[in-house]
Amino acid sequence: MLELRGLTVSAPGRDLVQDLSLSLPDQGITALIGPSGCGKTSVLKWLAGILPVGLQAEGALHLDGRPIPRPHPALSYQPQSDALFPWLTIAENATLGLRVAGMGKREAQAKVVPLFDPFGLAGTEALFPAELSGGMRQRAAFLRTIVQDSRFVLLDEPFSALDAVTRIRMQRWLTDRLRERPRAVLMVTHDLHEATGLADRILVMAAAPGRIVADIPVPTPQVRRDEAAMAPLRETLKSLLLEETPT
Ligand SMILES: Nc1ncnc2c1ncn2[C@@H]1O[C@H](COP(=O)(O)OP(=O)(O)OP(=O)(O)O)[C@@H](O)[C@H]1O
Ligand SMILES: [Mg+2]
Repeated sequence: MLELRGLTVSAPGRDLVQDLSLSLPDQGITALIGPSGCGKTSVLKWLAGILPVGLQAEGALHLDGRPIPRPHPALSYQPQSDALFPWLTIAENATLGLRVAGMGKREAQAKVVPLFDPFGLAGTEALFPAELSGGMRQRAAFLRTIVQDSRFVLLDEPFSALDAVTRIRMQRWLTDRLRERPRAVLMVTHDLHEATGLADRILVMAAAPGRIVADIPVPTPQVRRDEAAMAPLRETLKSLLLEETPT
């Protein structure tokens, strides 16, 4: 279990996130939704240990009841921007997390390259990020994050640049992967269908300052697949977001 306790993130003169606590069980998808600017990315960046200089933060992170430093190898993070290195090929970018964790080049490639095809990236191994579309770069960034097999996977709008069909494909791939290798995922999304269709639980944030205002369990995967059955929950989330979105 991962527990974030009392996170406050401040810029000079204002709190961006105030006294936010959340816990992630070892399995399942938690969606984090909230109006633009409410601090979702700031929370994930803090968890990943890469909050920008200039922002102050206090808070504690506990793994299985013990405080841990950040960055920590139990957490992997896909930033909202794809953050691929422009001077590395797609294969080098996609294997980077594994290589940084100490895996040899050949082993890392053997793990990652078979996924290029299901990710719609076949043939891009030797290309550079600038030669790919935005959606392809986003999938390469998702690949880099997910192959690390960390216990906790932080995804910041991982499918926002994808067309509807590719998005559904990647969502299915993720749920299949999690069935094979259960992990905890914290996923930021603006897409309510994605939140209600994928997540076991939805955290709703409000803005100024960022805080969690609702923690909503989602019915079982069987019910989730039924779009119509999920419509009332999407309506509830929509009204919550409308209340919380600054005008
Ligand atoms: N480096 C920074 N310095 C000062 N303020 C910042 C910095 N980064 C983010 N902010 C501010 O923090 C607030 C939260 O930003 P954040 O990116 O966490 O929001 P978000 O919920 O992820 O938004 P979106 O849904 O648009 O991605 C915003 O008001 C933003 O202007
Ligand atoms: Mg964001």
